[in-house]
Amino acid sequence: VGVLGGGQLARMMAEAAVRLDVRLRVYQTSAEGPSSVLPDVHTGAWTDSECIDAFLAGCDVVTLDNEWVDLGTVVDRLPPDVSLRPGVETMNRVRDKIRQKAHMEAYGLPLGLYEGCHDRSSLDEVARRFGFPLVAKRPTHSYDGYGNRTVHDRTQLHAAFDELGGGGPLLVEQWVPFVQELAVIVARRPGGQAVAYPVTATQQRNHKCESVEVPAAVEHSVAELATELSLAAAEVFDCVGVVGVELFMLEDGRLLLNEIAPRPHNTGHYTIDACSTSQFENHLRAVLDLPLGETTLLRPAAAMVNVLGKRLGKSQSASLASALAVPGASVHLYGKDVVRPGRKMGHVTAVGASIEEARNRATEAARRLEL
Ligand SMILES: Nc1ncnc2c1ncn2[C@@H]1O[C@H](COP(=O)(O)OP(=O)(O)OP(=O)(O)O)[C@@H](O)[C@H]1O
Ligand SMILES: [Mg+2]
Repeated sequence: VGVLGGGQLARMMAEAAVRLDVRLRVYQTSAEGPSSVLPDVHTGAWTDSECIDAFLAGCDVVTLDNEWVDLGTVVDRLPPDVSLRPGVETMNRVRDKIRQKAHMEAYGLPLGLYEGCHDRSSLDEVARRFGFPLVAKRPTHSYDGYGNRTVHDRTQLHAAFDELGGGGPLLVEQWVPFVQELAVIVARRPGGQAVAYPVTATQQRNHKCESVEVPAAVEHSVAELATELSLAAAEVFDCVGVVGVELFMLEDGRLLLNEIAPRPHNTGHYTIDACSTSQFENHLRAVLDLPLGETTLLRPAAAMVNVLGKRLGKSQSASLASALAVPGASVHLYGKDVVRPGRKMGHVTAVGASIEEARNRATEAARRLEL
């Protein structure tokens, strides 16, 4: 399996690949990514056809570690017997958040109000129609909250257009008054067979995922609907592999889709330590068209807390021993050389007899990590 992109997702896929004796090869653009420690890594530009050819030679399947990979050269050079999974059509529909929303809307999936704004007069028109606050998003290349902001007035909205739009359109969304955010990890094979993991409750701060708890404390009917919508979303984009689906739950239990990501997802990292099959193993199984593994939660509850950078500088692991001393906490570090405030440096998962127990353990271990 070739993986385009050498971030933490490729690195965690490699762990799962070793168990199945699947040979994993990574293509990265920087020599110092989380995947640099892996044995078979090719480093080059996305447009370096020689380097891409060497990477593709011998691959059965090529998959992605992030959706911002520049696919042009890869697609041009892809040998006829090598599959790209997820495929180009899926990626093109998902990558641009405006296009992604239009596609979901066309299939009748429930969404909040949104508009792609191409100029200043459309900004004002949308602000009048939706009212403030609004969420402004750069339609492409935004992730982990980079490229998103909540705007409270006309000045902030126009500033977002200049600073996030970058000359292209700006996605403007009505503020969704959610009471809880949910996420569901789906794994889907090329023929459409799919499995879903338990529904998780996610906590975001500054538009960035901070922690995840599972099972989400929601009514059974809400969990069922979330699962149904997530499977439907994976299907309408014809996703192959793992897909992370993010949803908003409203006060009356109604659900709206926020976005999907056609790859293993931060809100599914807990599956490594808490489920029968991790999302990374199921991603590999799905892209290789192998039978999917069970998604059962092995303990009553699990929690995952992201370890975010708190400073700018070289990372260090001096605090590891202290975090590892927390009983029941599984520490995952991504091997990023440089820490930046807010950068995802690792995560901690804990399981427990209750959500509280799992949350306390994971929070305590994450707090102790000073990278
Ligand atoms: N329309 C909205 N109304 C209210 N909150 C929103 C809205 N859109 C986004 N948010 C908040 O911002 C968070 C990040 O938004 P979104 O998922 O679109 O961005 P992202 O940068 O792609 O995030 P990530 O990569 O972390 O999933 C959401 O999880 C939610 O907390
Ligand atoms: Mg998101």
